[in-house]
Amino acid sequence: MTGSTRLRARLADRSAHVGVVGLGYVGLPLAVEFARAGFRTTGIDVDAAKVDAINQGTSYIPDVPNADVAALVADGRLWATTDASVVTDLDTVNICVPTPLRKTRDPEMSYVVSAVEQVARYLHAGMLVILESTTYPGTTEELVKPMLEAGGLTAGVDFFLAFSPERVDPGNPTFNTRNVPKVVGGLGRESTDLAAALYGAAIETIVPVGSPQTAEMVKLLENTFRMVNIALVNEIALMCDRLGMDVWEVVGAAATKPFGFMPFYPGPGLGGHCIPIDPFYLSWKAKQSGFDPRFIELAGQINSAMPHFVVDKIAEALNRRRKPLNGSTVLVLGLTYKRDIDDIRESPSLDVMALLQAKGARVRYADPYVPALNARQWRGEVDLTSEMLTAPALAGADCVAILTDHRAIDYRIVVESARLVVDTRNAIAGSHPLVFKLGAPSPATPRVALPADPAQAVT
Ligand SMILES: NC(=O)c1ccc[n+]([C@@H]2O[C@H](COP(=O)([O-])OP(=O)(O)OC[C@H]3O[C@@H](n4cnc5c(N)ncnc54)[C@H](O)[C@@H]3O)[C@@H](O)[C@H]2O)c1
Repeated sequence: MTGSTRLRARLADRSAHVGVVGLGYVGLPLAVEFARAGFRTTGIDVDAAKVDAINQGTSYIPDVPNADVAALVADGRLWATTDASVVTDLDTVNICVPTPLRKTRDPEMSYVVSAVEQVARYLHAGMLVILESTTYPGTTEELVKPMLEAGGLTAGVDFFLAFSPERVDPGNPTFNTRNVPKVVGGLGRESTDLAAALYGAAIETIVPVGSPQTAEMVKLLENTFRMVNIALVNEIALMCDRLGMDVWEVVGAAATKPFGFMPFYPGPGLGGHCIPIDPFYLSWKAKQSGFDPRFIELAGQINSAMPHFVVDKIAEALNRRRKPLNGSTVLVLGLTYKRDIDDIRESPSLDVMALLQAKGARVRYADPYVPALNARQWRGEVDLTSEMLTAPALAGADCVAILTDHRAIDYRIVVESARLVVDTRNAIAGSHPLVFKLGAPSPATPRVALPADPAQAVT
C-alpha cells in the first residue's frame, strides 16, 4: 500500500490522527470541525494558557461555544499540547499561525518558519502538511517545501504538501468554517486530492485549484478586493463630507442596484489581522519582480489616513461647541476592529485614541467586548478600563465618538445623554442636532453671539 493510499483510507474511515498547529481564531474552529467530523484531533500551540483552556473544555474564541469544546474533549476526540513531538503520531497537520507585517510592511514570517521547523523535526513518510496562514504567493513551494525536505523526504512523493487559505469571518452568524467553500492547492495532484479528502470530511464545499501558489493568490485577491473597495468608499465619504452630502444615503441607494454593484461602507480605518496586512504580502512579492502594485499602495494611504480624518471631525464637532480638543474628554465607543467581536488587532480605534491623546484630549472608552486596555496597547499614557454606558458616563464626556457599532450598545441612550456625538459607522439612524457623521453634512449650529471684542469697542 502506498503512503497516499493508506492516508486516503484513514481519512475515509476517520481513523486518521489529525493535528492543527496554532489554535487561534482560525486554528481552534478548524480543530473543532475536524473533531466533530470524527477525527482524533490534536491541537498544538506555544501558548500554554490556550492549551490548558482546551483541555479543560473551555473556549476562548467567541465563535466557538464552550459546550462544543467540552463535549469533544470529554469524548476524547479533541485535546491540545505545547509539545510538538506529538507530530510523530499525526497523519496530517494544518499550520494556522500568525502572519503579521514588520514595521517596514515586509512579511513577518518568523511564526511560519518556527511552526514549520517543529513539523519538519517530526515529519514522517505518508504525512500530509497543509499551510493555512495567509501569505505571499510562492511561500509553500519556496519556503515551506525546502524546510520540510531538508530531512531527506520528497514533497509530493514521500509526504504531501498543500496550501489552503482560511476564509473565516469572526462574528459572522451565517458563515463559519464548515459552510464557507475551501480552496485547496496541492503540490501535485496527489497532495491536492488528499487535502480535499481531509477537508471534505469537515467542510461542505471544496474548491481544488492547480497549485499552492494559486491558492495563496486567491486569498490575496479576496482581501485586496476588500481593502481597495473599502478605500474607494472611504474616499467617496471624504468627498461627500467636503461636498455636504450623505455617503450613507448614497451607498444605501446604490446598493439597491440588483447587479454590478456591491456595497462597502466607510469607517475610521482598516483593522484586524487580515485586510490591512495581507495585501502588503502581495505587494512585497510583486515588488521583488519589479512590479509596482499601485492599487494596494494607494488604498493603504487612503485607509491609513482615516483615523486622522476622524480626529479632525471630532475637533470640528467640539469647535462648533466652542471647545478645543486640547483638554476635552472624548469617550470612544467601540475598540474592536469590527462589530460584535473581541479582536482589537490593528484596530483603527487605537490609532484614533493615540492621536486624540497627542492633541491633549482626555481619552476614555467603552466596549462590552474589551474590559481593559493597557497603555502599551493604545500607545497611551495610562491603562484604561471599559466604562459602563450609563447616562452620567455619557454626559460626562465632551464628545462621544462611535468607532465600532456593536449591536449590544443602546444607541438611544447615547443620543439622549451625550453632549455631542461623532458617529463614524452610521450607528445612529437619521440626522440629529448633536450627531456629526463621517461623510455627511454637519448638523446646523445655532449661531451664538460672540462677546464684543474690547479692541473694537466704541467708547
Ligand atoms: N483572524 C481571522 O479572521 C483570519 C481569517 C482568515 C485568515 N487568517 C489568517 O490565519 C492565520 C492565523 O490567524 P489567527 O487570527 O488565527 O491568529 P491568532 O493569533 O488568533 O492565532 C495564532 C496562534 O498560533 C500560535 N502560535 C504562534 N506560533 C506558533 C508556533 N510556532 N507553534 C504553535 N503555535 C504557534 C499562537 O500562540 C496563537 O494561538 C494568519 O495567517 C491570518 O492572516 C485569519
